[in-house]
Amino acid sequence: MEALKPDAFLKKLAEQREAAWAKMTAEKKSYGAEKPLTRDVILRRLQFGVVMERRAGEVTARWVAQVPDLDIQRPLSEYVANELKHAAILRERIKELNGDPDALWNTPLRELKELWDYHASLGSLCELLASVQYGHEEFFPRTSKSFIERVAPLDPKTASIYRDTLLGDEEGHEWLAPEALKRYASDGETQRRCLEALERGCELFARAIQSFNRANVS
Ligand SMILES: [Fe+2]
Ligand SMILES: [Fe+2]
Repeated sequence: MEALKPDAFLKKLAEQREAAWAKMTAEKKSYGAEKPLTRDVILRRLQFGVVMERRAGEVTARWVAQVPDLDIQRPLSEYVANELKHAAILRERIKELNGDPDALWNTPLRELKELWDYHASLGSLCELLASVQYGHEEFFPRTSKSFIERVAPLDPKTASIYRDTLLGDEEGHEWLAPEALKRYASDGETQRRCLEALERGCELFARAIQSFNRANVS
């Protein structure tokens, strides 16, 4: 495709992401937001979080050494550290609730494994940033807010972990993916591959959520 100007390219990515969100919402592919929370559902949600956070850190880590600009490279390495820190915090909370912190990590849902295998297979940092950080990770604050509201009366400590740590760190790195994409995804072919990666990433994410919901029913 013909190369778009940076702002037009980001706008196109965002439009595609929002279309995926609208579809997920219409198909109710949320984290079971309509169901009442139980101790088991909270544990499963935290276990799902462990996989999401740790894998986000891992798939991004391999690209850090290749970032040309230090003012992107350093925050990207902090991003990796933050995601792994979040995985560790969620694991601790699961242990306090007497759950198995690695239940989903050791035996991931097939769709969840497919999602992260796809991200790990991407051929460039730009595609990864489009698919993960500028893609479905943008949904995290939205899904977390409804989770926090519902979990707060039952389990204030878990609510505070999401509200005070995970969401705060998330806001701190939101600028990073668009800035890196503006700088590095400048040619038409890279932009095309980024759009494709975002679409596929959101689709696999929606499937992973659906599979998570199904597993919670049984
Ligand atoms: Fe995180
Ligand atoms: Fe994050």
